[in-house]
Amino acid sequence: MTNSTIDLLCQHRSIRSYLAKPVTEQDISAIFSAASHASSSSFLQCSTIIRITDHDKRSQLAHYAGDQTYVASAAEFWVFCADFNRHIQIEPSLNLGKAEQLLLGCVDTAIMAQNAVIAAESLGLGCVYIGGIRNHIDKVTELLNLPKFVLPLFGLCIGYPDQSPEIKPRLPQALVMFNDQYQPVDKAILAHYDQQMNEYYGARSTHKKAGGWSDKLTGTINKEQRDFMLDYLHKQGWITK
Ligand SMILES: Cc1cc2nc3c(=O)[nH]c(=O)nc-3n(C[C@H](O)[C@H](O)[C@H](O)COP(=O)(O)O)c2cc1C
Repeated sequence: MTNSTIDLLCQHRSIRSYLAKPVTEQDISAIFSAASHASSSSFLQCSTIIRITDHDKRSQLAHYAGDQTYVASAAEFWVFCADFNRHIQIEPSLNLGKAEQLLLGCVDTAIMAQNAVIAAESLGLGCVYIGGIRNHIDKVTELLNLPKFVLPLFGLCIGYPDQSPEIKPRLPQALVMFNDQYQPVDKAILAHYDQQMNEYYGARSTHKKAGGWSDKLTGTINKEQRDFMLDYLHKQGWITK
C-alpha cells in the first residue's frame, strides 16, 4: 500500500550540493507553516528557528560545523533550537532546568524540523540536517546571541538539489519494530542488511567505500563524543535538576 505522501517520505535522501537558486518567500512561509503545525508536547511550543540570512554568519557556521561547505552554499540555512527562554520572558517565575524539559524541547523541535523537511521535499527542494553545529555549540550560541534556555540542536540546509544521490537502505522492520516486547538483534537479519549496505556503499555515485552498517558503529559513535556537552547544558540552564 502506498500513496504520494508515503512515496515522498520513502524517497528521502539528504542533499549536500545545491543550485544557486533562491527559495521564494512564499515557499519559505509554506515550509514554516508546515513546521509550526507539528504536534507539541503539552502545547508548550518550545522551539525556535533562527534563519541565517547574514553571509558572514553562514560562513562562520559552515566552519564551526566542520567546514561543511553546503551550510554556506544552500539557499537557506535554519538553526532549530529547543527554547524555554520565551516562556520565562512571559512568566519569569517558571521552574526550569528539569531533565524532562530538555527531552521535551528536543523531541518537539525534531518533530517540527522533520515537518519542515517533508514540506520542503514536497516542493521539489532538498535538505540536510547539520548536527555538526554542535561541534562548537558554545561559539554557535555566542554567534547567534542565544540566551539561557535556548539550545541550538541542529541546522537545516534547504535548497534546490544539484545532485541526485541514491536512497540509503534502512534497517529492516524485523530489527526495528517489535510486537509487545523488546527483542535481541537477529544476527542473520543483520548480516543480510550489512551485505545490502556493503553493496550500496560500493555502488553509490559518490564517497564509495567498503563494509556494512555494523562495521561503522565504533568509528562513528566514538568520533562524535562532544564531551563538553553536559557542562555546556548546565551553563545554559538545562538539566540542573
Ligand atoms: C540530527 C541530524 C544531524 C545530522 N547532521 C549531519 C551533518 O552535520 N552533516 C551531514 O552531512 N549530514 C548530517 N545528517 C544527515 C545524515 O547523515 C543522514 O540523514 C543519514 O546518513 C541518512 O542518509 P539520508 O538522509 O540521505 O537518507 C544529520 C542527520 C540528522 C537526523
